[in-house]
Amino acid sequence: MAEIKRVGVLGCGLMGSGIAQVCAAAGYDTLVREVSDELCERGIGGISKQLGKSVEKGKMAAEDRDAIVGRLRGTTKLEDLADCDIIIEAVVEDLAMKNEMWRTLDAVCGPDTIFASNTSSLTIADMAAATKRPERMVGLHFFNPVPVMKLVEVVKTIATDAQVFDTAFEFARSLGKEPIVCKDNSGFVVNLLLVPYMMDAIRCLEQGVATTEDIDKGMRLGTGYPMGPFVLCDFVGLDTLDKIGGIMFDEYKEKRYASPPLLKRMVSLGYYGRKSGKGFYDYSGAEPKPMP
Ligand code: 3HC
Repeated sequence: MAEIKRVGVLGCGLMGSGIAQVCAAAGYDTLVREVSDELCERGIGGISKQLGKSVEKGKMAAEDRDAIVGRLRGTTKLEDLADCDIIIEAVVEDLAMKNEMWRTLDAVCGPDTIFASNTSSLTIADMAAATKRPERMVGLHFFNPVPVMKLVEVVKTIATDAQVFDTAFEFARSLGKEPIVCKDNSGFVVNLLLVPYMMDAIRCLEQGVATTEDIDKGMRLGTGYPMGPFVLCDFVGLDTLDKIGGIMFDEYKEKRYASPPLLKRMVSLGYYGRKSGKGFYDYSGAEPKPMP
């Protein structure tokens, strides 16, 4: 099994920062690439703040937090990731943008570097095809919030080398996660089932089956889900859900993945969920309130 010491993470947003945090916490030297110094600082600053909360709760020693933050570095240059053993991409769901990065990295990284994508809905093969190392490309799909959620979907394409896959699988385990093996289909396992569920909840609301709160309450108390579907939609981000659903609809041409009109209108108006302060709930007060 190839040894992994240095990890590169592309993107330090919600998912990228979570991935960088768990990699650094597991002892890996972690280099995060963002498009500006400001975004690097904001991302690493956010991780430090998140770890600070654990220190305040007495769940982590201050020295451990400092050691984790000490293993994190930021850069704006893709070339700086040249000597990473594995690079995990967590940028927006835009195949052209992702592939432009992979092409640059393919040219500067050593032949052994493993390329991994945290894509939610694109296929890994469509990224592997942009590189000259399709056999070294896998999916490593994490879940939000990354430091808390135990699952990682480890995705093999028809071209992935078996040893590369095993290294990626063990790497996910070394982060304290529970990996599962997935085929390279759009949505893998979880989003294949979760996206239609969230879209159906929105269709229920459109049809007046019940109120936002009651649909959420129904699924929480009736099935034991930690969040109802609308709280979850707002948590994932409505723009993200719309984008993922669009990619999956293009792939399968099945209505269950398509964004219902209400979701499209909300995205047009900038109702992105928690991150924008408005989604199916309004987050401007002390407690979230369902939107009228
Ligand atoms: N980052 C880091 N830690 C967080 C966090 C965050 N954003 N949110 C909560 N936590 C931590 C808390 O600090 C707390 O830690 P502690 O036990 O050490 O004190 C712990 O999680 C529990 O938090 P809370 O008590 O505040 O809240 P809950 O018990 O309600 O748990 C939750 C919060 C873990 C988010 C839970 O509601 C949950 O599991 N929700 C479902 C999340 C989910 O389904 N995620 C998948 C989304 S789909 C996806 O990511 C795929 C993508 O491709 C779309």
